[in-house]
Amino acid sequence: MEIIERIKDMQAYSQDLRVEGKVIALVPTMGYLHEGHLSLMREGRKRGDVLVASVFINPTQFSPNEDLDKYPRNFERDRDMMEEVGVDVVFHPRANDVYPEGYQTFVTVDDVSKNLCGLTRPTHFRGVATVVAKLFNCVLPHIAIFGRKDYQQVKVIERMVRDLNMDVGIIGMPIVREPDGLAMSSRNEYLNPKERKAALSLYKAILIVRELFENGERRIGALTDRAIGVIMTEDLARIEYVKLAHPENIDELVGVVWDRALLALADYIGETRLIDTPVLGEEFENC
Ligand code: PAF
Repeated sequence: MEIIERIKDMQAYSQDLRVEGKVIALVPTMGYLHEGHLSLMREGRKRGDVLVASVFINPTQFSPNEDLDKYPRNFERDRDMMEEVGVDVVFHPRANDVYPEGYQTFVTVDDVSKNLCGLTRPTHFRGVATVVAKLFNCVLPHIAIFGRKDYQQVKVIERMVRDLNMDVGIIGMPIVREPDGLAMSSRNEYLNPKERKAALSLYKAILIVRELFENGERRIGALTDRAIGVIMTEDLARIEYVKLAHPENIDELVGVVWDRALLALADYIGETRLIDTPVLGEEFENC
Protein backbone atom coordinates (compact mmCIF):
# COMPACT_ATOMS: atom_id res chain seq x y z
CA MET A 1 0.00 0.00 0.00
CA GLU A 2 1.35 3.34 -1.04
CA ILE A 3 0.90 6.60 0.92
CA ILE A 4 0.84 9.78 -1.15
CA GLU A 5 0.83 13.17 0.55
CA ARG A 6 1.44 15.67 -2.21
CA ILE A 7 -1.36 16.70 -4.56
CA LYS A 8 0.93 16.79 -7.61
CA ASP A 9 2.17 13.24 -6.90
CA MET A 10 -1.39 11.97 -6.52
CA GLN A 11 -2.45 13.56 -9.81
CA ALA A 12 0.56 12.15 -11.67
CA TYR A 13 -0.06 8.69 -10.21
CA SER A 14 -3.73 8.74 -11.24
CA GLN A 15 -2.99 10.12 -14.70
CA ASP A 16 -0.68 7.14 -15.33
CA LEU A 17 -3.36 4.72 -14.13
CA ARG A 18 -5.88 6.31 -16.48
CA VAL A 19 -3.47 5.97 -19.41
CA GLU A 20 -3.18 2.27 -18.53
CA GLY A 21 -6.99 2.05 -18.66
CA LYS A 22 -7.38 1.23 -14.95
CA VAL A 23 -10.63 2.00 -13.12
CA ILE A 24 -9.93 4.15 -10.05
CA ALA A 25 -12.29 3.86 -7.07
CA LEU A 26 -12.09 6.51 -4.34
CA VAL A 27 -13.34 6.32 -0.76
CA PRO A 28 -13.01 9.78 0.86
CA THR A 29 -12.73 9.73 4.68
CA MET A 30 -11.72 11.95 7.55
CA GLY A 31 -9.95 9.01 9.20
CA TYR A 32 -10.62 7.34 12.55
CA LEU A 33 -12.00 4.48 10.55
CA HIS A 34 -14.67 2.03 11.60
CA GLU A 35 -16.53 -0.85 10.00
CA GLY A 36 -18.74 1.61 8.07
CA HIS A 37 -15.70 3.01 6.24
CA LEU A 38 -14.35 -0.48 5.67
CA SER A 39 -17.62 -1.54 4.02
CA LEU A 40 -17.14 1.35 1.55
CA MET A 41 -13.57 0.25 0.89
CA ARG A 42 -14.61 -3.36 0.31
CA GLU A 43 -17.12 -2.11 -2.25
CA GLY A 44 -14.41 0.01 -3.87
CA ARG A 45 -12.12 -3.02 -3.94
CA LYS A 46 -14.77 -4.94 -5.88
CA ARG A 47 -15.57 -2.17 -8.33
CA GLY A 48 -12.19 -0.61 -9.08
CA ASP A 49 -8.89 -1.90 -10.42
CA VAL A 50 -7.17 0.50 -8.06
CA LEU A 51 -8.62 1.53 -4.71
CA VAL A 52 -7.65 4.92 -3.32
CA ALA A 53 -8.79 6.01 0.15
CA SER A 54 -8.26 9.58 1.25
CA VAL A 55 -7.73 10.58 4.86
CA PHE A 56 -8.17 14.29 5.39
CA ILE A 57 -9.93 16.12 8.21
CA ASN A 58 -11.46 18.92 6.21
CA PRO A 59 -11.45 22.18 8.17
CA THR A 60 -13.94 23.97 5.90
CA GLN A 61 -16.81 21.67 6.83
CA PHE A 62 -16.53 22.54 10.53
CA SER A 63 -17.82 25.86 11.83
CA PRO A 64 -15.76 27.66 14.51
CA ASN A 65 -17.81 26.28 17.43
CA GLU A 66 -17.55 22.65 16.24
CA ASP A 67 -15.20 19.78 17.06
CA LEU A 68 -12.41 20.22 14.47
CA ASP A 69 -9.67 20.31 17.10
CA LYS A 70 -10.85 17.33 19.04
CA TYR A 71 -12.01 15.25 16.04
CA PRO A 72 -10.55 11.77 16.75
CA ARG A 73 -7.43 10.82 14.79
CA ASN A 74 -5.11 7.83 14.68
CA PHE A 75 -3.38 7.55 11.35
CA GLU A 76 -1.30 4.48 12.27
CA ARG A 77 -4.41 2.53 13.21
CA ASP A 78 -6.22 3.73 10.06
CA ARG A 79 -3.25 2.72 7.92
CA ASP A 80 -3.29 -0.85 9.28
CA MET A 81 -7.04 -1.14 8.72
CA MET A 82 -6.76 0.13 5.14
CA GLU A 83 -3.92 -2.26 4.38
CA GLU A 84 -5.97 -5.15 5.74
CA VAL A 85 -8.98 -4.31 3.55
CA GLY A 86 -6.88 -4.03 0.39
CA VAL A 87 -6.50 -0.28 -0.21
CA ASP A 88 -3.82 0.34 -2.86
CA VAL A 89 -3.14 4.03 -2.22
CA VAL A 90 -3.82 6.27 0.76
CA PHE A 91 -4.06 9.93 -0.22
CA HIS A 92 -3.18 11.88 2.92
CA PRO A 93 -2.75 15.54 1.99
CA ARG A 94 -1.80 18.36 4.35
CA ALA A 95 -4.31 21.10 5.15
CA ASN A 96 -2.06 23.88 3.86
CA ASP A 97 -1.60 22.04 0.58
CA VAL A 98 -5.37 21.63 0.13
CA TYR A 99 -6.14 25.18 1.31
CA PRO A 100 -3.01 27.28 0.72
CA GLU A 101 -2.89 30.86 1.87
CA GLY A 102 -5.24 33.03 -0.15
CA TYR A 103 -7.61 30.15 -0.89
CA GLN A 104 -11.02 31.56 -1.88
CA THR A 105 -12.94 29.17 -4.14
CA PHE A 106 -15.92 27.19 -2.83
CA VAL A 107 -18.62 24.97 -4.29
CA THR A 108 -22.16 25.54 -3.06
CA VAL A 109 -25.06 23.27 -3.88
CA ASP A 110 -28.04 25.44 -3.08
CA ASP A 111 -31.30 23.64 -2.53
CA VAL A 112 -30.21 20.17 -1.42
CA SER A 113 -27.95 21.77 1.21
CA LYS A 114 -30.47 24.06 2.80
CA ASN A 115 -32.68 21.76 4.93
CA LEU A 116 -31.94 19.32 7.76
CA CYS A 117 -28.26 19.65 8.71
CA GLY A 118 -27.96 22.71 6.48
CA LEU A 119 -30.24 24.67 8.84
CA THR A 120 -28.02 24.28 11.88
CA ARG A 121 -24.68 23.90 10.04
CA PRO A 122 -25.08 26.53 7.29
CA THR A 123 -21.54 26.27 5.90
CA HIS A 124 -21.08 22.52 6.35
CA PHE A 125 -22.13 21.29 2.92
CA ARG A 126 -20.23 24.07 1.17
CA GLY A 127 -17.11 22.67 2.88
CA VAL A 128 -18.02 19.10 1.98
CA ALA A 129 -18.77 19.87 -1.68
CA THR A 130 -15.59 21.90 -2.00
CA VAL A 131 -13.29 19.27 -0.56
CA VAL A 132 -14.94 16.45 -2.49
CA ALA A 133 -14.55 18.42 -5.74
CA LYS A 134 -10.89 18.97 -4.86
CA LEU A 135 -10.39 15.29 -4.00
CA PHE A 136 -11.88 14.39 -7.38
CA ASN A 137 -9.41 16.74 -9.07
CA CYS A 138 -6.51 15.18 -7.17
CA VAL A 139 -7.41 11.48 -7.40
CA LEU A 140 -9.23 11.56 -10.77
CA PRO A 141 -11.53 8.67 -9.77
CA HIS A 142 -14.02 6.95 -12.06
CA ILE A 143 -16.22 6.12 -9.08
CA ALA A 144 -16.47 7.42 -5.51
CA ILE A 145 -18.19 5.66 -2.63
CA PHE A 146 -19.95 7.31 0.32
CA GLY A 147 -22.00 6.05 3.27
CA ARG A 148 -25.70 6.73 3.47
CA LYS A 149 -25.58 7.56 7.17
CA ASP A 150 -24.72 11.02 5.84
CA TYR A 151 -27.62 10.73 3.43
CA GLN A 152 -27.94 14.45 2.74
CA GLN A 153 -24.20 14.59 1.99
CA VAL A 154 -24.63 11.88 -0.66
CA LYS A 155 -27.43 13.87 -2.28
CA VAL A 156 -25.36 17.09 -2.21
CA ILE A 157 -22.47 15.29 -3.91
CA GLU A 158 -24.72 13.64 -6.50
CA ARG A 159 -26.19 17.06 -7.33
CA MET A 160 -22.76 18.69 -7.57
CA VAL A 161 -21.52 15.95 -9.91
CA ARG A 162 -24.58 16.32 -12.12
CA ASP A 163 -24.56 20.13 -12.17
CA LEU A 164 -20.83 20.46 -12.81
CA ASN A 165 -20.68 17.60 -15.35
CA MET A 166 -18.10 15.73 -13.32
CA ASP A 167 -17.38 12.34 -14.82
CA VAL A 168 -17.50 10.39 -11.54
CA GLY A 169 -20.03 7.71 -10.62
CA ILE A 170 -21.34 8.21 -7.07
CA ILE A 171 -22.24 5.14 -5.06
CA GLY A 172 -24.18 5.45 -1.78
CA MET A 173 -23.78 2.47 0.53
CA PRO A 174 -26.08 1.28 3.36
CA ILE A 175 -25.65 2.46 6.94
CA VAL A 176 -23.52 0.06 8.99
CA ARG A 177 -24.75 -0.42 12.55
CA GLU A 178 -23.26 -1.71 15.79
CA PRO A 179 -24.80 -5.03 16.90
CA ASP A 180 -27.29 -3.10 19.09
CA GLY A 181 -28.34 -0.84 16.20
CA LEU A 182 -26.38 2.39 16.80
CA ALA A 183 -25.21 3.75 13.43
CA MET A 184 -21.42 3.62 13.23
CA SER A 185 -19.71 6.99 13.38
CA SER A 186 -16.25 8.23 14.31
CA ARG A 187 -18.00 10.54 16.79
CA ASN A 188 -19.36 7.54 18.77
CA GLU A 189 -15.86 7.58 20.25
CA TYR A 190 -16.84 10.68 22.28
CA LEU A 191 -19.65 8.85 24.14
CA ASN A 192 -19.09 7.72 27.74
CA PRO A 193 -20.86 4.47 28.77
CA LYS A 194 -24.02 6.28 29.98
CA GLU A 195 -24.21 8.33 26.79
CA ARG A 196 -23.55 5.28 24.66
CA LYS A 197 -26.63 3.68 26.22
CA ALA A 198 -28.70 6.85 25.73
CA ALA A 199 -27.59 7.06 22.08
CA LEU A 200 -29.60 3.93 21.37
CA SER A 201 -32.75 6.03 21.68
CA LEU A 202 -32.25 7.08 18.04
CA TYR A 203 -32.37 3.50 16.85
CA LYS A 204 -35.32 2.70 19.12
CA ALA A 205 -37.18 5.64 17.60
CA ILE A 206 -36.35 4.42 14.09
CA LEU A 207 -37.65 0.92 14.81
CA ILE A 208 -40.92 2.25 16.20
CA VAL A 209 -41.49 4.71 13.35
CA ARG A 210 -40.64 2.04 10.82
CA GLU A 211 -43.18 -0.31 12.36
CA LEU A 212 -45.86 2.40 12.33
CA PHE A 213 -45.04 3.16 8.69
CA GLU A 214 -45.14 -0.50 7.71
CA ASN A 215 -48.52 -0.79 9.40
CA GLY A 216 -49.86 1.99 7.21
CA GLU A 217 -49.34 5.18 9.27
CA ARG A 218 -48.66 7.99 6.79
CA ARG A 219 -49.39 11.13 8.83
CA ILE A 220 -46.10 12.96 9.26
CA GLY A 221 -47.06 14.45 12.62
CA ALA A 222 -47.95 11.02 14.02
CA LEU A 223 -44.65 9.52 12.83
CA THR A 224 -42.36 12.32 14.00
CA ASP A 225 -44.17 12.81 17.33
CA ARG A 226 -43.65 9.17 18.09
CA ALA A 227 -39.93 9.39 17.36
CA ILE A 228 -39.63 12.54 19.49
CA GLY A 229 -41.47 10.81 22.34
CA VAL A 230 -39.06 7.87 22.30
CA ILE A 231 -35.93 10.04 22.21
CA MET A 232 -37.23 12.38 24.93
CA THR A 233 -37.41 9.50 27.41
CA GLU A 234 -33.60 9.81 27.61
CA ASP A 235 -32.45 12.58 29.95
CA LEU A 236 -29.13 12.87 28.14
CA ALA A 237 -30.74 13.40 24.72
CA ARG A 238 -31.45 16.82 23.20
CA ILE A 239 -33.25 16.79 19.86
CA GLU A 240 -31.91 19.01 17.06
CA TYR A 241 -34.45 17.78 14.56
CA VAL A 242 -36.70 14.85 13.71
CA LYS A 243 -38.03 15.28 10.18
CA LEU A 244 -39.36 13.45 7.20
CA ALA A 245 -37.87 14.65 3.95
CA HIS A 246 -38.12 13.87 0.26
CA PRO A 247 -35.41 11.24 -0.38
CA GLU A 248 -34.17 12.91 -3.56
CA ASN A 249 -34.41 16.69 -3.13
CA ILE A 250 -34.34 16.70 0.72
CA ASP A 251 -37.33 19.07 0.90
CA GLU A 252 -39.16 18.77 4.19
CA LEU A 253 -42.40 16.82 3.75
CA VAL A 254 -45.66 18.12 5.18
CA GLY A 255 -49.01 16.42 5.72
CA VAL A 256 -48.70 12.81 4.69
CA VAL A 257 -45.96 10.65 3.18
CA TRP A 258 -46.45 8.22 0.34
CA ASP A 259 -44.21 5.32 -0.55
CA ARG A 260 -40.72 6.50 0.48
CA ALA A 261 -39.47 9.12 2.89
CA LEU A 262 -36.17 9.98 4.49
CA LEU A 263 -36.45 9.80 8.27
CA ALA A 264 -33.79 12.23 9.40
CA LEU A 265 -32.76 12.42 13.04
CA ALA A 266 -30.13 14.69 14.57
CA ASP A 267 -29.63 14.64 18.32
CA TYR A 268 -27.15 15.66 20.93
CA ILE A 269 -26.32 12.97 23.42
CA GLY A 270 -24.50 14.99 26.06
CA GLU A 271 -22.15 17.12 23.96
CA THR A 272 -22.01 14.71 21.02
CA ARG A 273 -24.08 15.34 17.92
CA LEU A 274 -25.30 12.15 16.25
CA ILE A 275 -27.35 11.69 13.10
CA ASP A 276 -29.22 8.75 11.63
CA THR A 277 -30.99 8.77 8.28
CA PRO A 278 -32.85 5.61 7.21
CA VAL A 279 -35.28 5.74 4.31
CA LEU A 280 -38.77 4.52 5.18
CA GLY A 281 -40.19 2.32 2.45
CA GLU A 282 -36.84 0.72 1.59
CA GLU A 283 -35.44 -2.63 2.64
CA PHE A 284 -33.88 -2.37 6.08
CA GLU A 285 -30.50 -3.51 4.74
CA ASN A 286 -30.40 -0.40 2.55
CA CYS A 287 -30.82 1.95 5.45
O1 PAF B 1 -18.14 11.87 5.24
C1 PAF B 1 -17.00 12.32 5.51
O2 PAF B 1 -16.21 11.70 6.21
C2 PAF B 1 -16.61 13.69 4.97
O3 PAF B 1 -17.68 14.56 4.98
C3 PAF B 1 -15.95 13.61 3.59
C4 PAF B 1 -16.90 13.10 2.53
C5 PAF B 1 -14.72 12.72 3.65
C6 PAF B 1 -15.50 15.01 3.16
O4 PAF B 1 -14.60 15.56 4.06
